[in-house]
Amino acid sequence: MSRTSQRPSTAQLIMSRPEEAARRAYSLHYGGAAPEIAVFAPGRVNLIGEHTDYNGGFVLPMALPLITVIVGSRRNDGKICLVTTAEGADEPQKVEFEAPREDKPLAPGTPKWANYMKGVIQHYRAGPIPGFNAVVATSVPLGGGLSSSAALEVATYTFLQQLCPDDGDDVQKALACQKAEHTFPGVPCGIMDQFISVMGKEGNALLIDCRSLEATQFPLTDPKLSVLITNSNVRHELTGSEYPTRRRQCEETAKALGKETLRDASMEELKAKKGNLSEVCYRRARHVITEIERTAKAARALERGDYHVFGKLMVDSHNSLRDDYEVSCPELDELVAIAMEVPGVYGSRMTGGGFGGCTVTLLETSVADKTKQQIQEKFRGTPTFYITKPSPGSGVLSH
Ligand code: GLA
Repeated sequence: MSRTSQRPSTAQLIMSRPEEAARRAYSLHYGGAAPEIAVFAPGRVNLIGEHTDYNGGFVLPMALPLITVIVGSRRNDGKICLVTTAEGADEPQKVEFEAPREDKPLAPGTPKWANYMKGVIQHYRAGPIPGFNAVVATSVPLGGGLSSSAALEVATYTFLQQLCPDDGDDVQKALACQKAEHTFPGVPCGIMDQFISVMGKEGNALLIDCRSLEATQFPLTDPKLSVLITNSNVRHELTGSEYPTRRRQCEETAKALGKETLRDASMEELKAKKGNLSEVCYRRARHVITEIERTAKAARALERGDYHVFGKLMVDSHNSLRDDYEVSCPELDELVAIAMEVPGVYGSRMTGGGFGGCTVTLLETSVADKTKQQIQEKFRGTPTFYITKPSPGSGVLSH
């Protein structure tokens, strides 16, 4: 796929920076050479359907024009050398190790950023993988809830596909990247982030059924409608421990209801078993069951162009994440409240895992500047804004 041959749009300009950065760093680190391979994978924003993916539910994300780029070339001594230019990545920014062999698999270690790549190298679906030199650069903010981890995993997988082709199965690609995240950085994530980073379609949000892994495209090209992402630039330390706890609470509740996942449970069934469940598990499950329902309704509203209904469902989703699932934080609540004061804003909610990161706001394009201004003036922190369009999933960058 050529991403550089057309007239540059804003999205392409944002994208051109990480590629440029990666190429420059490659030449610097590897003796002036030009890389043979250049690939990218996008971050994502989830419009609605939060904490439903690991419950077999629906999610409605879109891929972003914020991307992670990897450039590199094969080397013949079986060694792999990785360099990151990403701001905020832990030290060192360069690591070297032997390509994995059956009797010598890779293991997680330090620096942490390299674990996302090592995990993918270890779980790559073809091989043996030859040695290579690579450089990573990204325009996806790290730890901002826009899936910088999945973008790095999927970019790594896409890079390996150029080096040592697999069978090209996209679902298996997303699953291998999810497995890498489970086993190397050790985060028990769902499938949403890797799936949309592989499968994103320009101009479309994707309704993903995380039980069947089927995806349906929902066009999002009305020029009168915009998607505003606001990064609170806060990250609360809870993220690491709270995510696995939520996941466990959901699994336990599904089991108590006699279901494989909460996707298979209804509100009636949950209410009937209320007496057997802890108050916390009841609320966690109520969030998941109602959120799956809201996501299906939101997709239908989008199809009809009913942005008011879509926006109302976004706010309901936020409130449920705040009160029942308890993954929001005061900064995200404040960003949603400020955005909702502006006439022409349809809806706003936290997006991603929570405890900081970003909100996503659906609004009339004509009020985008006013909304940003209002947030700048009233928000307690220092926000960063992105007006975004649904962008393509991972691919190869042409020179
Ligand atoms: C993180 C995970 C996803 C998903 C979201 C919450 O982004 O990686 O799998 O669970 O949180 O919706």
